[in-house]
Amino acid sequence: MGKNEKIHVSEMMEKLKEILLLPERAFFFDTTLRDGEQTPGISFTQEEKLSIARSLDDLGIDTIEAGFPVISDGDFAACKEIANLGLNSEVMGLARMKKFDIDKVIEAEMDSIHVFIATSQLHMEKKLKMTSIEVLENIAKFVSYANDHYDKILFSAEDATRSNIEFLIKANQVAIENGATRINIPDTVGTISPKAFGHIIKMNYNALPKDIRIAVHCHNDFGLAVANSIAGFENGASEAQTTIMGLGERAGNASFEETAMSLYALYQIPMNITTELIFPTAKLVESYCGGKIKIGRLQPLIGQNAFAHESGIHAHAMIQSARAYEPITPELIGIKRSDSVEQIVKNSIRLGKHTGGHALKAKLDDLGIDTSEDQFKQIFDHIKRFGDKGHEVEEADFLAIVKDVMGDLPKEEQYVILDELTVLTGSITPTSTVRLKIRNNGDFKLRTASSIGVGPVDASVKAIVKCFERMNKIQLLNYNIDAVTGGTEALGHVSIELIDLESNDIIKSNATHEDIVMSSVLALIKGLNQLVKLKNR
Ligand code: KIV
Ligand code: ZN
Repeated sequence: MGKNEKIHVSEMMEKLKEILLLPERAFFFDTTLRDGEQTPGISFTQEEKLSIARSLDDLGIDTIEAGFPVISDGDFAACKEIANLGLNSEVMGLARMKKFDIDKVIEAEMDSIHVFIATSQLHMEKKLKMTSIEVLENIAKFVSYANDHYDKILFSAEDATRSNIEFLIKANQVAIENGATRINIPDTVGTISPKAFGHIIKMNYNALPKDIRIAVHCHNDFGLAVANSIAGFENGASEAQTTIMGLGERAGNASFEETAMSLYALYQIPMNITTELIFPTAKLVESYCGGKIKIGRLQPLIGQNAFAHESGIHAHAMIQSARAYEPITPELIGIKRSDSVEQIVKNSIRLGKHTGGHALKAKLDDLGIDTSEDQFKQIFDHIKRFGDKGHEVEEADFLAIVKDVMGDLPKEEQYVILDELTVLTGSITPTSTVRLKIRNNGDFKLRTASSIGVGPVDASVKAIVKCFERMNKIQLLNYNIDAVTGGTEALGHVSIELIDLESNDIIKSNATHEDIVMSSVLALIKGLNQLVKLKNR
């Protein structure tokens, strides 16, 4: 799907658009290098900051908040270098309402300035130790000082959502009267709901001049940052302050990926973003987080599961129309998959307990594996059994299961079949009881035997020897066990070599099972069947 493919949204969304105060264009202000770098544990090197800034520019970000130049020499140097990269994005620097801070932004040669001061009673009283009148005086004084040097000034009333609404509007008006050209309304500690935030934005939108762009800056303390940002856009905001991957103080800021794609997909608001660079940019930033912050598996849009399907019903429907269970194509945000829908489905199908026949068939077809009905059923049952035990069937597990089933002789050619295996192990002497079905003139006869051994595998092999007299002539040459994937839940893959001492035939056999005793017994039984087949040829 390209940018032109229709995104299917609900009828209600279409109707809603008519009554909302959606902007004609969405602006993006990225603060990955400032608020994002305030993520506990995250610190980017100078080189990484430059590389992130270039990527944000390629992505089409309107404004890059490159840093807070007063906080360190390193931040100052990075701000200055980014400001001099010649990017298309506007490069902005943050400053408190202090001459020294503002001078640092000027010195760093930044394109524009972002000045802030808190307006909530809590912050004014406890942090700033200022009265509300003093806060207004500071806004007037320092916005006007910034205005001597800059014609683009963004003003933020920190902790806006916990401020008295009339006072917040007043603070914004004073900032505008003294030269602020843009207003940002931060939900500094993430303590607002979408409805209430929408209300605050609408009240500001109605009270402020219409040529003043209103930005939203939402923190994710209650997981509402993106929802609150969208509510802001529904009520008059036109700029989203976001970070890549949602990095930021505490639980982070609104994620750029989710905010931008919600505005794009749900409301089709025009923007300057090259959506295909969204995923590559997130991966780049993730790589600079040194493993401390990772894209979550369930993370919307960019997480490993975002375009993966396990359910048989979903996979089947997706073969008919990929849009049935995916709101957008992964390509739209730069996740590469093959062009054909069927390929997309095959590549995105995860196997597990929800896997349906269609999904498995698609996966096997993709690998060019032709199975008999019985083999298909065996593969299907094994995947379900493995999945039911809470395991995800990884690609390597899947291939091991297929190899295992495909390497087996067809039922009609099998001489011995495992009917039951019971193993007792622990702090007692390992004991195994096996019940085998052994072919005898076309019929199967049941044979049961028990044995002790040094371990459960040894006890089981000895029990099989007891009920299968030909075993006296057969010797185990080699026994090998490997975990197919990592972890204690992995499938155990056993490969063995057997020799028939009468005919000198040597065969190799293997089996895969989540229980290593079972894989050992199954490998042995498969090997026996092959030797009997050779003998009878
Ligand atoms: O969260 C916040 O209030 C901020 C301001 C500096 C805009 O980051
Ligand atoms: Zn913030």
